[in-house]
Amino acid sequence: MRILLSGGTGLIGRALCRRWLQEGHELLVWSRRPEQVPRLCGAAVRGVASLEELGDIELHAVINLAGAPIAERRWTRRRKALLWDSRIHLTERLVEWLAGLSRRPPVLISGSAVGWYGDGGERLLHETDAPQSSDFASQLCIVWEESAQRAQELGMRVVLVRTGLVLARNGGFLARLLPPFRLGLGGRIGSGRQWMPWIHLHDQVALVDFLLRHPSASGPYNACSPHPVRNAEFTRCLAQTLHRPAPLPLPAAVLRVGFGEMSGLLLGGQHVLPERLQTEGFEFCFAELSVALADLLVGNNAER
Ligand SMILES: NC(=O)c1ccc[n+]([C@@H]2O[C@H](COP(=O)([O-])OP(=O)(O)OC[C@H]3O[C@@H](n4cnc5c(N)ncnc54)[C@H](OP(=O)(O)O)[C@@H]3O)[C@@H](O)[C@H]2O)c1
Repeated sequence: MRILLSGGTGLIGRALCRRWLQEGHELLVWSRRPEQVPRLCGAAVRGVASLEELGDIELHAVINLAGAPIAERRWTRRRKALLWDSRIHLTERLVEWLAGLSRRPPVLISGSAVGWYGDGGERLLHETDAPQSSDFASQLCIVWEESAQRAQELGMRVVLVRTGLVLARNGGFLARLLPPFRLGLGGRIGSGRQWMPWIHLHDQVALVDFLLRHPSASGPYNACSPHPVRNAEFTRCLAQTLHRPAPLPLPAAVLRVGFGEMSGLLLGGQHVLPERLQTEGFEFCFAELSVALADLLVGNNAER
C-alpha cells in the first residue's frame, strides 16, 4: 500500500512507520521538517513539506496524527491557538487537498483522544456516549474529529482513534514520569481517584493497522487497554515495577497554580473501555498495566 502520514515523525507515527516499512509498504510523511523524515521514520520514507508536491497521487490510505503536544506547557491564548491550528486547520487543509484528487484514497484514519469525553468522573464510557463536560481539550477533540469526518462526504471511510495515554519506552507520558519515580520521589496526582486510560505503544500501532485492514471499521474507536486504572493504582504499579517507593503526592492545588487550566488533564479522567475494538475482534497484547510496564521498563526492548 502507498500510505501518507501526517505526524509520522511523532511517537506513534514513527512506530507505525517501523511496522509498515517492515511489511513492505510505501510511506510518505507530510512534515514541517521533511529533511528529518528518513532519519526519524526510516531511510525509505519520503518526507514532503507540502501536499501539492504530491501532485495527483494515488494513495491507499491516509493517517492523520499531527498536532502540537497538548500537555507540554500552560494553555495561554497563544498556545491554545497553536494546539487548534496544528490539528484542526491542518486536518481541514488535508481534507481540502483530498477533495481535489482524481482517485481518492479509500480510508482516512485520524487521531483523537479520550479527552473527547471531557472529565467523565466515575461514569463508564463507551463510544456511543456523549461528551461529559466541555473543557478545552474536549472541544479540541470534538472539532478535530468533525474536521476529519468531512472526508466521508468525499466517499472515504473515516476512522477516529480516541487514544488514551500511550506508554512507550522512549517518549510520551511515561518518559516524563520516570525521572522522579526512578529517584523514589514519585506519588499520586491529586486524590489519585481519577481514571487513567492507557495503552501500550505496541497495541496502539497494532490497532491502527487493524482498523486500516478492516473495511467495515469506521467512526470513533476508544484506543485504550480494556483494564483502565485510577491514578493511584498507576502510581503504585509504576513504583513497584521500578522497585522504588512513591511517597510524594502532587497536591491538586499545586498543579492548579503551576499549570492553570491544563491541570484539568491530570486531575480529571475518563473511565473508558475499548468496546468497539473488542467487539470487532481486536486482541490486545498488553491488557494489564503491570505486564505493559514490565515489558517497557524491565529488560531492553528498544523497539518499544
Ligand atoms: N501519545 C499520546 O499519549 C497520545 C494520547 C492521545 C492522543 N494523542 C494524539 O495522537 C497524535 C499523535 O501522538 P504522538 O504522541 O505520536 O504525537 P507527537 O509525538 O507529539 O508528534 C506529533 C507530530 O505532530 C507534528 N506537530 C507537532 N507540532 C506541530 C505544529 N505546531 N504544527 C503542525 N504539526 C505539528 C510533528 O510532526 P512534524 O514535526 O513532522 O511536522 C510531530 O511529530 C497527536 O495529535 C496526539 O495529540 C497522543
